[in-house]
Amino acid sequence: EASTLGKRWIRPDAPSPSEWEAPSFAFAFDIDGVLLHEREPLEGAAQVLALLDHYHIPFILLTNGGGKFERDRVAELNQKLHSNMTTDNFCQSHTPFQELLPEYADKTILVTGSDYEKCRQIMQGYGFRSVVTPGDIFTAKPEVFPFETVGKEMGKPLPKPLWTPPKVVEGETVKGKVLSAEEAEKEEEEKRLGEHLKIDAMFVLNDPRDWALDVQVFMDLLQSKQGYVGTYSEENNRGNWQGDGQPKLFFSNSDLIWAAKYHLPRFGQGAFQHALVGIWKEVTEGKAELKRTSFGKPHRETYEYAEEMLVRHREEWLKSKGYPQKVVRQGLKRVYMVGDNPESDIAGANDYDGKGKYGTEWVSLLVETGVYNELRMNFKEGDVRKADVVRKNVAEAIKWAL
Ligand code: G3P
Ligand code: MG
Repeated sequence: EASTLGKRWIRPDAPSPSEWEAPSFAFAFDIDGVLLHEREPLEGAAQVLALLDHYHIPFILLTNGGGKFERDRVAELNQKLHSNMTTDNFCQSHTPFQELLPEYADKTILVTGSDYEKCRQIMQGYGFRSVVTPGDIFTAKPEVFPFETVGKEMGKPLPKPLWTPPKVVEGETVKGKVLSAEEAEKEEEEKRLGEHLKIDAMFVLNDPRDWALDVQVFMDLLQSKQGYVGTYSEENNRGNWQGDGQPKLFFSNSDLIWAAKYHLPRFGQGAFQHALVGIWKEVTEGKAELKRTSFGKPHRETYEYAEEMLVRHREEWLKSKGYPQKVVRQGLKRVYMVGDNPESDIAGANDYDGKGKYGTEWVSLLVETGVYNELRMNFKEGDVRKADVVRKNVAEAIKWAL
């Protein structure tokens, strides 16, 4: 079937792959709304992957989805799409979090997402050694969240105890000085702080479920003293927001919407990010921007990661197919990004076009099988969200590219 399609889409006398020159182009596919919809394969998706595989045209999957181990998601996709992918050509939203290992592997990080335990396991699988969740903090001290919507038994014991405000010992003499109530509190706090739980970075792995608890815990830490849970930095009162060693904040994607089962697009992780930003704005009386880093499409970090992955995968894969090293080295010149979301897939590809380490050209192809809606997608010429080409589905998009 793949070679018949090849003869129709490439050229009628398409040579057998062994006589094929190593292609200098490759594809990057979005998943939801391009290859799958409602977890089921979209028309033509499996055929397209088989065709590329047959003609030794490299591709990667580049999704803003997540919440599973890469190897599990790949196995699931291979089963659905009858494909032969490995984790070498698969990048989900949180895959590039591994780049942060040198900084945080030995520190304590907080993670949230669709399932606290799963999120912890994924981050530990990447190599982060000390991972806690908002569920752990709630379990250690349920007063953190005063409403009854949260399940009681959902956390693990924390590596260190939570800090609680010390009893004020007014009148105590320290270093020859009789302390006032305020001084006593400060003295006690400094003395005890280091023994308590300190969070150095916070990660949103995929779309959170317990928004209310997560927002509370995240906001607490963003205002804390050096990331110690349960403290409040006096630097906040001086307008020095996020200036007292608070944990760094990372999101794995900023998709406001995505294509789910309902006939209208549904809110994604981006909506959670906006909720946090909105509350932050109120808390800081609009005086400070929330400092944060977002991975995933359309952000540059993710396209850099994807390009590197594609270059590496292409080289290994083509070598394994018997192409001489010299031919493989000729390198990757162009990537076709096939996506359904102008705000992420398309904007990211357009923005990254020619700007990466390898200078690769990125061509953006929008398909109509996902969040596409004619009324919302009428972008003006020059708008970064405007795709180079729009096609009905993934098969039509590939046909155009070939
Ligand atoms: O949660 C998944 C979603 O935000 C987008 O997935 O594959 O369309 O990038 P994808
Ligand atoms: Mg999509």
